[in-house]
Amino acid sequence: MSTKPTVFVTRRIPDAGLDRIRQHCDAEVWPEQLPPPYELLRQKVAGCDGLVSLLTDRIDAPLLDAAPRLKVVSNFAVGFNNVDVAAATARGVAVGNTPGVLTDATADMAFCLLIAAARRVVEGHDYGKAGRWKTWEPLGHLGQDLHGRTLGVVGMGRIGFALARRCHRGWDMRVLYHDKYCNELAERQLGATQVDLDTLLAESDFVSVHTDLNDQTRGLFNLARFRQMKRTAVFVNTARGPIVVEKDLVEALKTGVIFAAGLDVTDPEPPAPDGPLYSLPNLVVAPHIASATVGTRNAMAEICANNLLAGLAGQKLPAWVNPEVEGKRRK
Ligand code: DGY
Repeated sequence: MSTKPTVFVTRRIPDAGLDRIRQHCDAEVWPEQLPPPYELLRQKVAGCDGLVSLLTDRIDAPLLDAAPRLKVVSNFAVGFNNVDVAAATARGVAVGNTPGVLTDATADMAFCLLIAAARRVVEGHDYGKAGRWKTWEPLGHLGQDLHGRTLGVVGMGRIGFALARRCHRGWDMRVLYHDKYCNELAERQLGATQVDLDTLLAESDFVSVHTDLNDQTRGLFNLARFRQMKRTAVFVNTARGPIVVEKDLVEALKTGVIFAAGLDVTDPEPPAPDGPLYSLPNLVVAPHIASATVGTRNAMAEICANNLLAGLAGQKLPAWVNPEVEGKRRK
């Protein structure tokens, strides 16, 4: 009989991490494209020592209760709003995530959405494809300038900082930010100014969201917030879909309350293909792909494997969401 720990991996992740997991564990990897249904996942983890989860897997108290041997949940994402961390801690289960390695890829995607929405790239693509491009139009397709404008970053963590650095150094933008913490590096290196949310919304030409999803940020961007922005403003969300009240964003875009928006995350995911998100000319929607580069996903897989193996061995996780569990971890 194998003495290796038993783990369940809820989707195929890059070999950069999976090979090590397979080497050290008896690993079952869910082979489908869609997530395992919740009830099935509960059954799968029942006899497991470790779990590799994705942001699409709900890891809650009943699921943890069904897995009395579980020592570690290694989430293949930096965000961990899919995991009930308090419930895991209470049960002695360590939780890991993948911070740091997806900062640049995500900041690139935020900037990509910002410029695509500001310069109406996707709308222009559709226009040509539909056979409507007849000639060069002096008054057609006018978008917003980026150079020298003001960027408002909501949540000045690693990714917010990386976007601000791109915009400040490359496009000479002034940077405002809203965060409960002061980011001294952003202030020193980018001349960023910490302001309240009202000021940020009123003064920014581009508003980009980089907070995590929690009780304070759920539904933060509603119609009232969009009304505080400039009519020329471009709104970008690469964080989590439920931070935005989507029907309010649709209303704001339809009625010219703001100029345009770019989303990498929606609520729900995926949005209905025939729903409003895909029918607005001034909204660009990417399918939650901000971290989707070969290098980034490989790096995420490596951290994910390291977290899992450390958790199984009772060691410190390299990227540990709940270090407070130390002292009461399951043996
Ligand atoms: C994350 O890691 O939280 C992203 O949303 C997906 O990479």
